[in-house]
Amino acid sequence: MPPVSGWDRSGNLCVAKGSPGGQVIVVRAFQAAILLGILLPGAALAAPLQYLSGAGDKATPVVWLTWGVLAISVIVMVVIAGLLAGAIWHRPGQGWTVGDKAPILADEGGLNWLWIGVCVSALVLLFSIVWTVKVLAQIQAPSARPAVTIEVTGKQWWWQARYLSDDVSQQFTTANEIHIPTGVPVRLKLIGGDVIHSFWVPQLAGKMDAIPGQTNETWIEASAPGTYRGQCTEYCGLQHSKMALLVVAEPDFDFRKWWAHQLAAPAAPEGRALMGQADFQGQCGSCHAVRGTEAEGALGPDLSHLMQRATIASGVLPNDGPTLAHWIADPQSLKPGSQMPAPALSEYQLANVHAYLKTLD
Ligand code: CUA
Repeated sequence: MPPVSGWDRSGNLCVAKGSPGGQVIVVRAFQAAILLGILLPGAALAAPLQYLSGAGDKATPVVWLTWGVLAISVIVMVVIAGLLAGAIWHRPGQGWTVGDKAPILADEGGLNWLWIGVCVSALVLLFSIVWTVKVLAQIQAPSARPAVTIEVTGKQWWWQARYLSDDVSQQFTTANEIHIPTGVPVRLKLIGGDVIHSFWVPQLAGKMDAIPGQTNETWIEASAPGTYRGQCTEYCGLQHSKMALLVVAEPDFDFRKWWAHQLAAPAAPEGRALMGQADFQGQCGSCHAVRGTEAEGALGPDLSHLMQRATIASGVLPNDGPTLAHWIADPQSLKPGSQMPAPALSEYQLANVHAYLKTLD
């Protein structure tokens, strides 16, 4: 296949005329671009972790900016690709000979178009920059005083959430599934518990690093009830990719009810679960806490109301019976490198612990 463009002996830039190879490349490139343009946003919108739609005062301007910049980029790409295709494909009044070259002559005004192109590009870029800076300023701080403050600590490889209150008796700790009330801003105090992590819930915006030894403040807001998936976005070790979280947004009444329930100790276990509680406190209680019991560890997630969570292992496994049983018996097979060791318990004892965990509602 002859080259699509090059320089002739007089130093003129030339493009190949009527080259079938060039035409095929252009047609294929357009087909691929159109296919990608249709498929990618469709697939992205259906993904659990996506930033092409948002809910809330913080996410909405960011989503508009995202689509705006995407649209500008697509228009620029189409215009440039169209001009390139036109140049490759067609030179009016001349024949189509493979490998033949046509010089771009100065009297055709080609250089003027160069200046016009530079000016148009500069204006479009300037517009994008102004829009971006405006959005950044807009989402810097919430318009209203945050209704709730949550201290979120990133740890290898899960998230601890401590709900703060002026009344210390109202404070509690949970993990990986953060409930928030809808329609109001929620302040987040981000801390790195061991290494640097980064908190991101794309549909609510709010991407910010969690760094050891300092507290980074940000805010999120959900305008509609729902479950919004988040993810650690700073490489933090072997299981970085399995450090997810869920933000559950619910109406204020439900949120207050949930908070009150979190403060209460779970119901006392009976029978097999009671035996499991003893094994749990002996084997797991130095790392995990369950309110109102001797299990008061703080190294791992607080499990006081474990059964109210949809997921385990930091949002990556469903919280169903078989998965939970597998997880407590052999966590390393599900999340290699996890800080959770397999407990030194017999199968019978593991079944008891499983029965106990299922009572933590
Ligand atoms: Cu935590 Cu990546």
